[in-house]
Amino acid sequence: MADRRSLAVGVTLGLLWVSRVGLWLSGAVAQVMSIWAAATADGAIGRLQVASKPAPPSAHPDMPGRVLLPLRASRGFRFCFACLQKLRHALRQRQPRDQVIQMINGYWVSQICGTVARLGLADHLAGGPATIGELAAVTSASPDGLCRLLRAGTTIGLFAEADTGRFMLTPLGAQLRDDEAAGSLRDRAIALTAPAHWLPWGLLFDAVVSGESQANAALGMDAWAYYARHPGESAHFARTMSDISAQASRAVLRCWDVARFRRIVDVGGSRGHLLTGLLDAEPQATGVLFDRPEVVEGARAELAASGHAGRVDIVGGDFFEQVPSGGDLYVLKSVLHDWDDERALQILGNIHRAAQPGSTLAVIERPLPSRPSPSYIHLENLLMLVELKGRERTIEDYASLLRRAGFRLQRTIAATGSGLRSPWTVMETIRQ
Ligand SMILES: C[S@@+](CC[C@H](N)C(=O)[O-])C[C@H]1O[C@@H](n2cnc3c(N)ncnc32)[C@H](O)[C@@H]1O
Repeated sequence: MADRRSLAVGVTLGLLWVSRVGLWLSGAVAQVMSIWAAATADGAIGRLQVASKPAPPSAHPDMPGRVLLPLRASRGFRFCFACLQKLRHALRQRQPRDQVIQMINGYWVSQICGTVARLGLADHLAGGPATIGELAAVTSASPDGLCRLLRAGTTIGLFAEADTGRFMLTPLGAQLRDDEAAGSLRDRAIALTAPAHWLPWGLLFDAVVSGESQANAALGMDAWAYYARHPGESAHFARTMSDISAQASRAVLRCWDVARFRRIVDVGGSRGHLLTGLLDAEPQATGVLFDRPEVVEGARAELAASGHAGRVDIVGGDFFEQVPSGGDLYVLKSVLHDWDDERALQILGNIHRAAQPGSTLAVIERPLPSRPSPSYIHLENLLMLVELKGRERTIEDYASLLRRAGFRLQRTIAATGSGLRSPWTVMETIRQ
């Protein structure tokens, strides 16, 4: 009996040991594979014409950079080099002082991305390497300024200097191409470094001390009035929201069934990317896209191009005055977080007036964690303070707000798998 017991304990311990070693080994293999993948991605550099003189090492201790390889380096050499680079980078990452320096300098990096995007450099380099002179000619930028920008961009990994004064795009830089199909970040880089976002953030200190939005102080008006007067900047912001919404709609539709609904009204729906996602999921349904007049005007061509024009009524207006009636599903995505409770209740009150008892209102937001824990959404909460009169809320806060406006929270659906602690969450409510 005692023998059997020791055998069982021995086998259990053995299995535990094997699984632990297996776990460690699989982790190690995954790590090596990721380094290999990164090394071969860097290897894109190797497709270039061979440089007569390799570019000098370009990493600066204060910036998150990497040293470029001579172009003719063999695959094996590149792999070892990439391992050392990763190790060096990982060790450096652990230095608190260096990490904080990178945080403090972070706004340089934002503006480099914004300027690269505005000049369209990623598009100009999409066809292959180009010299500073060639890029200066197509962008009308000063050759000296451009040279400094490209070298700074090289230091943070957006470009590689193939030959002295001749630059090519890296996989990071390619993210800034104007290529909607590839989920381009160009509009986001421009919108987040242009005045509507940038100037209020410069007054974060004042926002925190006063507890008030700084849009008026920085822009002379609120963000929406500013966008109405700056259609170019507004278009970059609207396309940024479309990109975020297209991703959110994919995540949300994986776990939310909209087959019951026939008439979907998207309130503050921007260019309609969420709405078209919902309509694609339910071919019998039709939709109403409701937003400020200048925003929905920009949606017309996009809806026609995506083949949804016949199924969507486009209505411009002000959700503080009224919203379209007749929906059996109303959707508010990323709208309530833009406003304080008083204004949010006005929007909800107008939806309550427009909707029939028993119809559904779905509020889609990324809620704050119910118990304080680190989350990306805390950064968005600062953005809501500094730029708008808004705030992020917990699910409990939303439930209480909705109850005050005459909506009963029926269920919440978290679109997990987005990698964030606060995933997109559908709060499905019934109009009382
Ligand atoms: C943060 S965006 C969210 C857009 C969209 N729901 C999405 O998730 O992509 C907020 C939207 O509210 C719209 N909006 C702001 N004020 C409005 C108003 N008074 N009436 C109607 N729409 C408004 C903006 O134009 C913008 O499209």
